[in-house]
Amino acid sequence: MVLMKQFDFKKGSSMNKLIEVENVSNERVTGVQFSLMEGSLTTIIGPSGAGKSSLLLLLNRLEDPDEGKIHFKGKNISDFPISELRRNIGMVFQQAHLFDGTVEDNLKFGPSLQKKWEPNEGVKLLEKVQLPKEFLTKEVENLSGGEQQRVAFARTLANNPEVLLLDEVTSALDMRTVDLMEDLLHKLVNEEGKTILMITHDLKQAERLGSYTLFMNEGRVEEQGKTTELFYQPKSATLKHFLEG
Ligand SMILES: Nc1ncnc2c1ncn2[C@@H]1O[C@H](COP(=O)(O)OP(=O)(O)O)[C@@H](O)[C@H]1O
Ligand SMILES: [Mg+2]
Repeated sequence: MVLMKQFDFKKGSSMNKLIEVENVSNERVTGVQFSLMEGSLTTIIGPSGAGKSSLLLLLNRLEDPDEGKIHFKGKNISDFPISELRRNIGMVFQQAHLFDGTVEDNLKFGPSLQKKWEPNEGVKLLEKVQLPKEFLTKEVENLSGGEQQRVAFARTLANNPEVLLLDEVTSALDMRTVDLMEDLLHKLVNEEGKTILMITHDLKQAERLGSYTLFMNEGRVEEQGKTTELFYQPKSATLKHFLEG
């Protein structure tokens, strides 16, 4: 049994609402309303099929709402050029979606579009996800699942996003890699001021990492607030039941 460390995030260090979701609905989510505070980590919990992934897709326009509005820095996300939006609001999935080629090919893809790739950039990105620089020239198909996932994460970081949307990114990883990824998330928030919205089915992880938590059920955000309040003073019967497992 590995004892996971408890993280000490600067809770609500900023009161700036970086993302505001106002009464958003589509086929899979209903009346969703919340804000993401700049420089905080918010976790999303809830049963399978609750609409967690569907909600994340709306935030960088892989889907669009039928009703309601989503603002990033006070501006409707549909008013940003889509490539600019997706650079600023990066997404990582449970499965690494890398393309064939070397690790460096994958890492430099986004920045190259902006002509912003420096040769030492790849080494810095690998350092962040704690992979040695020798990995740059490796073919991604020769990496383990956990290594690929870290490369996928580094590739998203290559765009220097302000917001990270993470969909069960540690679900398929071994305990040591989970620990390492959690350290990275902690640094991204506390040292770099990133804003993170993270779906996890690991309730201990949601509690360990989150300053704020959204509980989703049947397409709705049924409860939201400070993570400690949701975990220790759940209001709804559904959340109580869910936490009891
Ligand atoms: N591509 C899709 N087409 C049709 N239904 C979908 C699709 N993706 C998800 N759903 C349905 O939408 C609901 C919410 O799914 P999802 O957002 O994946 O939930 P979660 O991530 O919380 O498990 C579920 O009922 C699911 O079956
Ligand atoms: Mg999901």
